[in-house]
Amino acid sequence: MLLEVKNISVNVAGKAILKDISLQIKKAEIAVLFGPNGSGKTTLIKALMGFSGYSISSGSVIFKDKEISGLSIEERVKMGLGIMYQHPAKIRGVKLYQIAQFLCRDKKKIEELSERLSLREHLHRDINLDFSGGEMKRAELFQILLQEPDLLLLDEPESGVDLENISVMGKVLNEYLQKPGKSALIITHTGYILDYIHAKNGCVMMDGKLWCVGKPKEIFESIRKEGYEKCRECHDKQRIE
Ligand SMILES: Nc1ncnc2c1ncn2[C@@H]1O[C@H](COP(=O)(O)OP(=O)(O)OP(=O)(O)O)[C@@H](O)[C@H]1O
Ligand SMILES: [Mg+2]
Repeated sequence: MLLEVKNISVNVAGKAILKDISLQIKKAEIAVLFGPNGSGKTTLIKALMGFSGYSISSGSVIFKDKEISGLSIEERVKMGLGIMYQHPAKIRGVKLYQIAQFLCRDKKKIEELSERLSLREHLHRDINLDFSGGEMKRAELFQILLQEPDLLLLDEPESGVDLENISVMGKVLNEYLQKPGKSALIITHTGYILDYIHAKNGCVMMDGKLWCVGKPKEIFESIRKEGYEKCRECHDKQRIE
């Protein structure tokens, strides 16, 4: 097992946001997380990355056979965790190219990937400053792929991205995830990204709990037709097997 989340609870700003969450992701597996706004999806990803204010109050997170809940973000990144933010930060004074060089020493790779993601001109701009919504998402994907994590935590990668660019991003992401041992946990509302990757398992977060498990496209269709409430009927199968 690459990631094993066992019965974790997370309080944020004094409020219980995640309640007894368990999930597992195997090496080379892609899992999808659905769920209504405010249900706790981003909180889960932030807790897995070790953001301050999102610490785990009970339960454990095992990544590559090691308990990581006490580790810093930097240590988790070094172990192979990577995050693509729902709302990327703007960084004044730091060029995209500078962070790219920090993440990857291979100049050719930086050039090729920035070309594929139509980011050549953006390399020489401050990170995300006045980037359009879609450009920010492409820049996020660019950075996380240069970092080469083993487990990608992608928070709504296609949100605000036009259909042609979703196709570009989806193909680049799929190529990366085809490499041996690469895994991902992907949050999506629209499901568009599912057309480009081979996701095996999906689950639904509601009120800080995981309620369902199944094939991502089937869950998506069920949500589309019958809403999230239907997912509660699967609450006895809370684990991603
Ligand atoms: N730092 C914080 N301080 C106070 N409340 C927070 C904080 N972080 C998250 N929350 C609250 O926790 C709940 C879950 O938020 P979260 O961002 O995890 O939702 P989400 O499932 O990602 O929603 P969305 O689909 O809208 O992105 C929300 O009610 C949010 O306001
Ligand atoms: Mg979110």
